[in-house]
Amino acid sequence: MSGIKFPAQSTSADQILDSITEMQKGDANWRRGRLFSLIYHAESDLEEVTRAAYMSSFPLNALSDGTFPSLARMEADIVGMTADLLGQAGAPGSLTSGGSESNFLALKTARDRMRAIRPEVTEPEVIVPLSAHPSLSKAAGYLGLKVVRTRLDSGQRADIQSVEDSITPSTIVIVASAPSWPHGVVDPIVEMAQLASRRGVMMHVDACVGGFVLPFASRLGRHVPAFDLSVDGVTSISADVHKFGYSSKGASVILYKTEDIYAYQPFDFDDWTGGNYEVSTVLGSRPGGAVAAAWATMRYLGLPGYLEFTRRALAATQGFMDAVKAIDGFYIDGDPQYNLFAFGSRNLDIRAVFVGLKEAGWHPLLQGRPPSTLHLTLTPSHDRVVSEFERDLREVAGRVKRGEISGEDVQAHYN
Ligand SMILES: Cc1ncc(COP(=O)(O)O)c(C=O)c1O
Repeated sequence: MSGIKFPAQSTSADQILDSITEMQKGDANWRRGRLFSLIYHAESDLEEVTRAAYMSSFPLNALSDGTFPSLARMEADIVGMTADLLGQAGAPGSLTSGGSESNFLALKTARDRMRAIRPEVTEPEVIVPLSAHPSLSKAAGYLGLKVVRTRLDSGQRADIQSVEDSITPSTIVIVASAPSWPHGVVDPIVEMAQLASRRGVMMHVDACVGGFVLPFASRLGRHVPAFDLSVDGVTSISADVHKFGYSSKGASVILYKTEDIYAYQPFDFDDWTGGNYEVSTVLGSRPGGAVAAAWATMRYLGLPGYLEFTRRALAATQGFMDAVKAIDGFYIDGDPQYNLFAFGSRNLDIRAVFVGLKEAGWHPLLQGRPPSTLHLTLTPSHDRVVSEFERDLREVAGRVKRGEISGEDVQAHYN
């Protein structure tokens, strides 16, 4: 705790901005292409458009459609554009504050729908492969759902046999990732969805990180297995506009296969002394800026912009993977096909490599229990730093080999 007291005096705007600038000196310099998560940076012209759109609606509150119809219109457009991209034009859904909220709503909707359809299930279970994002376990915890973890196969995808073996009469929903954050591989979604339909349970695809990459990768000629609402048995899908949709934070989309399913999402309440309260998502007041920024970013880029950014992000990923493979001692984890991957080492302490890269100004994520790996998520702007990365990684590997860096006290952290 800082011990700070409530401000007894006002402070000038100049002083405040100076203080923020001062505090930000300790922050990661994300424009240099050395960050591999948190900010999905592409180009400065886009940043200006997104920022201007954000500021155009920055004071507005998306809680009230009637008061700010501009935001309601933009939200409907964002959901519609995303549904068109993800296999079912016109699919119902909502704009949310981020991937965690979209995943939360998918599980809450599954819980409430299955409670209505199968009231005999008193302790509902959700099947969550080991590579699925923690937001799903967090949501399950909030919602009183039991999480059943399933194994991964040798390619780090959800193991279909393990999923099948885990289904019980209490299972209500199966989760798959497209792709998973730790390994960048897409789970066997068609097979999982067939299993879900056969066993009468719902199936959520977490495409938070891939929803705005895979459709464009496919158009660029990459093999992309079917993963979206066009797959029979998939009942919901999440995709983040604030990741590879390239908008500012506070924008993700959750979509459902049918209106009947979506109907279990909104909250409608009038048992209080105020007026009727109806919201479709978790938050009450919501920043209008995030809505306008997402709408503007998607429209500004359009198909040509997304194709170009995806082409660059995939090329940057290939460059980084080639750099890793060119240095003795490293291997790529699994068979990542898109713009996220993890690498490990059979003869070097990867935690020491992590420390060395951090010292050189890079921000990979150390993940997994030993043997750990280093995670990189690549954006278009990483294409400028491929050779710098190879040079630094080579130098760090040499230092680790000579015992000049220790990774002993380092622990894996997602954030
Ligand atoms: C696959 C996946 N799902 C969900 C999330 C959570 O998204 P957010 O941080 O926007 O809540 C992430 C974040 O990286 C993710 O990669």
